Amino acid sequence: MTTPLRHLLALDQLSRPTIEALLDHAQALRPMALVGDPAHRPLAGRSLANLFFEASTRTRCSFQLAAVRLGADVLNVDMATSSARKGESMTDTLATLEAMGVTLFSIRHSIDGVVAELANVCAPTTRLINAGDGRSHHPTQGLLDMLTIRQNKGTDFSGLKVAILGDLKHSRVARSDLHALRALGTGEIALAAPAALLPDAATAIGCRIFENADDAIRDADVIITLRLQRERMDEGLVPSLEAFYNDWGLSPQRLLLARKDAIVMHPGPMNRGVEIADEVADGPQSVIREQVSNGVAVRMAVLEALGGAPATGRRALGV
Ligand code: NCD
Repeated sequence: MTTPLRHLLALDQLSRPTIEALLDHAQALRPMALVGDPAHRPLAGRSLANLFFEASTRTRCSFQLAAVRLGADVLNVDMATSSARKGESMTDTLATLEAMGVTLFSIRHSIDGVVAELANVCAPTTRLINAGDGRSHHPTQGLLDMLTIRQNKGTDFSGLKVAILGDLKHSRVARSDLHALRALGTGEIALAAPAALLPDAATAIGCRIFENADDAIRDADVIITLRLQRERMDEGLVPSLEAFYNDWGLSPQRLLLARKDAIVMHPGPMNRGVEIADEVADGPQSVIREQVSNGVAVRMAVLEALGGAPATGRRALGV
């Protein structure tokens, strides 16, 4: 039994069967994620608004493509030129779009918890998807990462060692990955970062923390590297980018410590030569592009699961 979803705010709210059902559905949608299927338009007549208060390429574009492929209309609201610039509150922006019949929203914001707060005030027919809030959650990225691991390593995670490397302190991707990895029963989760970039104790529950990258990576089946989030960092947390690469970057030499069939993941955007070497990012073990493609399938699955009730007027018309 899976729990019906109203919003998708965070993965720690989801049971293992719900996560697995979303992943199974995303896998089934995978063939139509890149080309679409005119016969499959379950969201025809629905509208999605992308409200991104932070920069994005992958997440925003894949929400757009996912919605279009399911037959929905999409509004990419440019927050830099919207009425948010005139001081309109997020609640008013949401209510304005709701009044136009928009029922689905993907929202990215730098402030932790903002999307969950909006979930308390939105219309009953509205469905919100957290597309990344501050350092806290990025549930669709967590799901697409799990889908990528499944495709390469199978659905049983109990024998896997997953190493996550880099700026764990500021990473909402790492937090969502950790919720999902734990829920799916991952055998070993290894975290490695300089002391200044380690996550808090609650985030690291059930994980082994390593003081150097080599020990974390040794015999890993999956390596997830993270972007140094300089925009969320006080100065001085990292001595220099060169020093960071030497100690924590995923170089071809370091990758040799992992299992021969280990896969390399990165949520993007990459700082090449900082957290990952070009040869590794573009090498045979990299599944970074696969993650991007899976992002469309996962967002299709999430949009379908939330569905979004028809706007009131349409319901009154019996449409
Ligand atoms: C991530 C994000 O915005 O949290 N990017 C993404 O959605 N793929 C990771 C990052 O910015 O480092």
